[in-house]
Amino acid sequence: MFKWFTKDSVEKDIFSPDGRSKCHFTLKSGSIYYTVSKNDKTLISTSALGFQIFGEAPLGDNLKLIRERTSRHTETIEMPWGEDRFINNNYTESAFYLSETKEPHRIFTLRFRVFDNAVAFRYEIPPQPKFQQISIKDELTEFNVDPNSTAWQIPAYQPDRYEYNYEKSAVHNLTHSVHTPLTLKTPSGYYLAIHEAALYNYGSMTIKLDSKFCLKTDITPLSDGSKAHVVLPFDTPWRLVMLADSAIELTTNRTMFALNDPPSQDFSWVSTLKFIGIWWAMYVGEWTWAPGERHGATTEHAKEYIDAAVRLGISGLLIEGWNEGWEGDWLENGINNKFTVSTPDFDLEEVANYAYRNHIELVGHHETVGFIDNYEKQLEAAYNYYATNHVHYIKTGYAGSMMLINGRREYHHSQLGVNHYQKTVELAAKKHICLDIHEPIKGTGIERTWPNLLSREGARGQEYEGGAISPSHACMLPYTRLLAGGMDYTSGIFDLENSVKRMSTTLARQLAYFVTIYSGMQMAADRPFMYEDRFPDEFEFIKQVPTNFEKTIPLAGEIGEYYVVARKDRDSEDWYIGGVTNEEGRRIHLNLNFLSTGSYAAHIYSDAENAHFRDNQFAIVKSNKHISRNEALDLYMAPGGGLAVRLEKQS
Ligand code: NOJ
Repeated sequence: MFKWFTKDSVEKDIFSPDGRSKCHFTLKSGSIYYTVSKNDKTLISTSALGFQIFGEAPLGDNLKLIRERTSRHTETIEMPWGEDRFINNNYTESAFYLSETKEPHRIFTLRFRVFDNAVAFRYEIPPQPKFQQISIKDELTEFNVDPNSTAWQIPAYQPDRYEYNYEKSAVHNLTHSVHTPLTLKTPSGYYLAIHEAALYNYGSMTIKLDSKFCLKTDITPLSDGSKAHVVLPFDTPWRLVMLADSAIELTTNRTMFALNDPPSQDFSWVSTLKFIGIWWAMYVGEWTWAPGERHGATTEHAKEYIDAAVRLGISGLLIEGWNEGWEGDWLENGINNKFTVSTPDFDLEEVANYAYRNHIELVGHHETVGFIDNYEKQLEAAYNYYATNHVHYIKTGYAGSMMLINGRREYHHSQLGVNHYQKTVELAAKKHICLDIHEPIKGTGIERTWPNLLSREGARGQEYEGGAISPSHACMLPYTRLLAGGMDYTSGIFDLENSVKRMSTTLARQLAYFVTIYSGMQMAADRPFMYEDRFPDEFEFIKQVPTNFEKTIPLAGEIGEYYVVARKDRDSEDWYIGGVTNEEGRRIHLNLNFLSTGSYAAHIYSDAENAHFRDNQFAIVKSNKHISRNEALDLYMAPGGGLAVRLEKQS
């Protein structure tokens, strides 16, 4: 459908392919609005759109429609790695070409895509005479949900970035800006998640409640007060509202990826990775990042860990604290970090050659502490240094409450922060390096375009154990943070009772994380002796569980309470099930009708009846049996516990 007209009043329904989801566009008295509904139930009522621009009249008033184009798109996307190999990209698109009725007659396009399970839209602003570059003062996009909806949220603009416990509150009680994905349950029982896709060259969208109890975008500002400086043409990120009938349905909404472009270069060299690390020993105080008597990253330790990785059947090894700059208060001294100079007791070339000979992938480490000026000066040389030493994976880190960019303190999730992260991803792609970004910019699906971005942190991970993580946290993540893509949660800590970082989990739950929290770079985070000597049976699950899945089926769950998911290996007919629960123990009845016909050997790890995350963490029941799709599994998850099952297809 292709229409030309000049109208200053327009109403248009855009229906999803299945006809159940609808976006309604309105142009009225020169202003533009949208609403979203599902099954005729309004989920987002009349919401305004537009911008305020420094030195210009707002963009979004005195508009008329000059052209509209509606089309259907049907496509199945194949992802090179991830939770689901195939993603539907089926939508109805309507593009509204708008022009101002008054001087300076600026034009822009508002493009909507309505999926069965989501509505997305973005603004596309072309260059035009006297309108070539703009500084955005505010984006006026609203998401006018029922203020009595429930929100699960973390606060924005805080020193620990995204690393907060999710809070549940009524929308009308939100007192601060919150990050996206912002997960909501409407009083009518629908689940929504407000997020964005394809965030490039723009401040990240946070959401705040305005004085009319309406949720509105609050784009992360730069230190000069603007939200973004852009040269036209410019397309904003997609504003995305995921729609679901149930909480678990939300967890497999992959629209964010569909809204990103396919890769424009060859990424066949990318592959997911499981790795151990010179890491947890630092957290429990055995070793240090800084050089000294207990320095972790020595040539000797690295070789020992490489040998251990070989014995364990794990493909990679992360080494943190290998470079100069960790002395003293490393959070304060990050300006001194040198990314091509190793400490005297660490010989990168020797370690790298040893790893190479043993077929172990080294995961390099760049802790920038947010000193971006310092890092960017060294970026090319640092990536070359790794690339020439067979290092194809880097974990980067941006600890610190703000970044230092161009000598100014900027938010990690500001336009300049977003651009820095992007620079690393693109340079890494050039050097055939994969990234696992800690203290990252949130995921907006750009992994579809840049599959070398294998993982991120971007939420509280297990380093917060020892008091700051409750069992409900990992039951929140699948419904909130993980809607933004995979996360390096540093799973697989078996040293549950250690005195420094006592864990609020059971042993079975540490296995479950490898299924419930997807990561393209998945760390088995404890020290090798824990796996080899203390718990070799449990380690077998970690060894077997894949990092790349064909298909994901959420089985049961409620936000912050529990989550059970099944995933099929991409390279075999085997399935893996993981489950986690909050402080409440629960019995789970699992139908296995998602399996194909035939027999499966089930290797089951579940909490014992008397297990408890506080005082009986190691009580685990391990069993094996043969099972088929016509049968069910009845399993128990103890308070703060979990379950893990490997279903091995019998030939
Ligand atoms: C925080 C990261 O999350 C953690 O994994 C890393 O070890 C430290 N920063 C030091 O870089």
